[in-house]
Amino acid sequence: MINKIKKIIKKKNKSKIVCLTAYSKNIAEILDKHVDIVLVGDSLGSVLYNFDTTRKVDLRMMLDHTKSVRMGVKKSLLVIDLPYNTYRNKKEALKNSKRAIKETKCDAVKIEGGTRVKNIVNHLVKNKIPVLGHIGVTPQTMKGKFKSVGKSEKEKNRLFKDAKALEKSGAFGIVLECIYGNISKEISSSIKIPTIGIGASVYCDGQVLVTDDILGLTNAKIRFVKKYVNIKKIINSSVLRFKKEVKSQKYPTKKYSY
Ligand code: KIV
Repeated sequence: MINKIKKIIKKKNKSKIVCLTAYSKNIAEILDKHVDIVLVGDSLGSVLYNFDTTRKVDLRMMLDHTKSVRMGVKKSLLVIDLPYNTYRNKKEALKNSKRAIKETKCDAVKIEGGTRVKNIVNHLVKNKIPVLGHIGVTPQTMKGKFKSVGKSEKEKNRLFKDAKALEKSGAFGIVLECIYGNISKEISSSIKIPTIGIGASVYCDGQVLVTDDILGLTNAKIRFVKKYVNIKKIINSSVLRFKKEVKSQKYPTKKYSY
């Protein structure tokens, strides 16, 4: 586990880090061949369960999905999102992180927040739990509408403070979500640990997106989401063909029968 983390850190300034989300084994198996980090994000709340906020995701759900993902991940670093209200203090964070690692065999946890969670991150790291930070837009505590951050001087200073605090606390990397490019660039060059951007420009040390979004499984209309395929269309036509063949008794032929 430690070697995998070191490998990720070493990529900074050498090779971009590739991270995607997975919520189950079959997708994880495909991702594992190509990415550095597989993240079981609490975005599963909106993607799979139609929740209006990730605050409704609980630890049980995260553990069950991560167990499934673990079966498909052999080489990449497997990170679990600790859901809302599972790391309110050092004791709770450590108890739940240990449980997550024991039950799912994941390699690291991700928690949202900067300066606010620095003591918690430090406590986890001291107890040998690798932590990926997450600043900028933090959906678990976000108020109001989803909007990019870092425009005002106040926001910019806060983001710098947050990034520095996480680095000092021992986080091995930081997700930068929806942050203006010039700020992501400055943050990335001012810390030694890698930044992984989502809507935070090309200047980050790596990129993460929600796999269901890039495959066209969701209807996400977010500026930073690039749809690489419309997989819904492919599934739809396959299901339709199956239906037609069942109705017309073209399926199953002898080949598919005993
Ligand atoms: O929950 C999630 O999937 C995430 C990533 C998109 C960064 O936090």
